[in-house]
Order: sequence, then C-alpha cells, then structure tokens
Amino acid sequence: MQVIIRPTAEEASWLVARMIGKCLKAKPDLVLGLATGQTMERLYSMMVKLHLSDGLDFSLCRTFNLDEYVGLPADSPYSYRHYMKTHLFDHVNLDPRNTHLPDGNAPDLSAECVRYEETIKRSGGIDLQLLGLGKVGHIGFNEPLSALYSRTREKALTPATIAENSRMFKDPADMPRRAITMGVGTILESREMIMLVNGTAKADILAKAVEGPITSMITASAIQLHPDCVVVTDEEAASKLQAREYYHWVFENEPEWAEYRGK
Ligand code: F6R
Repeated sequence: MQVIIRPTAEEASWLVARMIGKCLKAKPDLVLGLATGQTMERLYSMMVKLHLSDGLDFSLCRTFNLDEYVGLPADSPYSYRHYMKTHLFDHVNLDPRNTHLPDGNAPDLSAECVRYEETIKRSGGIDLQLLGLGKVGHIGFNEPLSALYSRTREKALTPATIAENSRMFKDPADMPRRAITMGVGTILESREMIMLVNGTAKADILAKAVEGPITSMITASAIQLHPDCVVVTDEEAASKLQAREYYHWVFENEPEWAEYRGK
C-alpha cells in the first residue's frame, strides 16, 4: 500500500482524478469500480472537467458501483443510481448500458447479488476500484464484522451508518436500513484500488484502517492485503498517521509520482 498526502481535499481529489484519467487513457475499455458519498462529489466534478476540457473519453469504459440501498422507490432522488447520474453519468460520454449498480428493488435480492458478481466476472473483473472510507471503517457497505472473504450480498446497516447517511434524506426516517454491497472479497479482487479520504472527521478511522491491525471490525483495514492500493488523503485526514513523514518522502522522491508533484 502507498499513502499519498496532499495539502488540501481539493488537491487530493485532483490527484485521484488524474490517476483515473491516466488509467482510462491507457485502457479505454477500463472496468472502473465506483463509490458514492460526499467525498466523491468533488472528485466526480473533476472527472467531468477532464472530460469537458481535456476530452477524457468514457465511451468504452464500463462501471460497477460498490452498493445500492434496498427498497427505495425506482425514481427516488436518494438512490445511488440517481447520485451517479447527477454527479457523473449525465455529464460524461459513458454509455448508460455500461453503467452497473446492484438493483435494490429486485424481487429476489440474493439472486440479484449473484447476478451482479457474474456481470463483474463477465466483464473481465474490475481493473480499478475507487473507495471512500466510512466513519465506521466500512468500504462499500461492509459494516463491522463483514467477512474479509465476503461477496456481494444484502447487508443490514449499522445505527452509526444510518445516522450518518440519513442526514441526506429530507425525512431521515426514509433512509433504508439495508443495502446491497460488493463484499470485501469482491473488492479485493480488483486489480488496482484507490481510496480517497478527506477531513479531520476521518483522521482516527484512517489511522486504524491503514496502520492498525487487519480486522473485520474495520473492513477498510482489508486494503492492507491488496498488492496495488494507493490511499490519497488530505493533511487533515492524515493527521493521525504515524508514518506521515515517510509517506511524504515517498511522494516527493519516487519517480512513479513525479508527474503528480507540484500541480
Ligand atoms: C458508498 C461507499 C461508502 C462511502 C463512505 C464514505 O458507495 O462506498 O463506503 O465511501 O461511507 O462516505 P462519505 O464520503 O460521505 O463520508
């Protein structure tokens, strides 16, 4: 794992947008795993900017989102499908047929989870998975005690996650209690992963996920098992990391990061 610390959330997000852009240019039919949440909003606006001003081409790209709420009305403005359309899909040249999210209204949710896994497999597997970090330490909606080998499945959300995400709902009582999420095992099968984390509120959990023991109580700690994972964070979220100086040194000195310095 590598940890890249940028001075601000803006700069951290810009670095991730450029990393994704580079991958997409190298492999136009990239299979891109996507996340939702507040952290991703700035990143998606930058990806849109790269499309509009630099011509970044999404026409062959295939996307798979990590998760979707169970049981929201099909036209709900709170669904992750709606979020993705608003922040990314409607503003770049992605073919809607190439954008995939689990169907939280499927009549048979277990069958839907199996179908989702098979669709990922048929597309050749995820090349690059984008991750956020929840305050409970989740990736996707892999709440505490999610098995590190878990696959896509329906998951009950913790009270902490419900409290956190229900703030987005006009009536917090409408927030679903369950979601379909890729499993930790599914996520770890992606060829490359980038986790983007910003803000002081994430400092404690980021330190546990990155430098603490691997535990299913903090499913984000499973990223330590992945052979090609980069965590990109702002100074605020990085403030509790013990090896900060080392991470800075690597970014400033390793040739791999030269093209991202000073911008
Ligand atoms: C949602 C997802 C979640 C979020 C996490 C952070 O698709 O994958 O794990 O990334 O809850 O959300 P924010 O950015 O809103 O703090």
